[in-house]
Amino acid sequence: MASTSPATSLLVVLVFLVGLGFAGACGGGSPASPAYMPGGATEDAAAAADASIAIDASDPTDGAPFAGCGTSPASGTIPADVLAVMSARCQTCHQMPPLNNAPFPLLSYQDVHSLYGGTIPKYQEMHYLIQPDGSPHMPYGNAPQLTADQFTTLDDWLVVCAPPGE
Ligand code: HEC
Repeated sequence: MASTSPATSLLVVLVFLVGLGFAGACGGGSPASPAYMPGGATEDAAAAADASIAIDASDPTDGAPFAGCGTSPASGTIPADVLAVMSARCQTCHQMPPLNNAPFPLLSYQDVHSLYGGTIPKYQEMHYLIQPDGSPHMPYGNAPQLTADQFTTLDDWLVVCAPPGE
């Protein structure tokens, strides 16, 4: 005799999916109001998981730019031109120890490829947060912002899965 009814099992799965959505929420972001549509539970859960991440609709590579990235190479270096941008615009806070309440250093290739919130590599979160509508937008607060050239140098590297430099 089954101890769990099919209806109970379905409920457990739904609660789990909704939980995943909240687990994906980024701490400190603005209150997310996901467009939650009844039905199509799987797609809704994926959308809810992404609700805190701002998608730049004008960027054709945004949305799911990292679907094909796979596993990061175990070690490497940040390309020199990218490192120069990060040094000027990110490492002023994301250093070791971090300054101005930054949560972690972004100094090395390993830092950039380590997991953010145990889920996605940090380089992917970096991509989302440097977009004009990133939340919380980076560089944070009234820190000097990326110039157009700096944005292009950094983002072009992030969207191709942040490969190691020479
Ligand atoms: C003025 C200091 C400062 C600068 C400069 C800065 N950050 Fe941050 N960063 C922060 C703070 C503070 C947080 C935590 C924000 C929060 O939780 O609301 C943060 C959080 C993050 C996070 C994690 C997101 C989160 O919600 O926890 C990432 C990824 C990040 N920064 C990337 C970058 C990148 C990439 C740059 C450079 C383009 C950058 N930051 C520049 C201060 C800074």
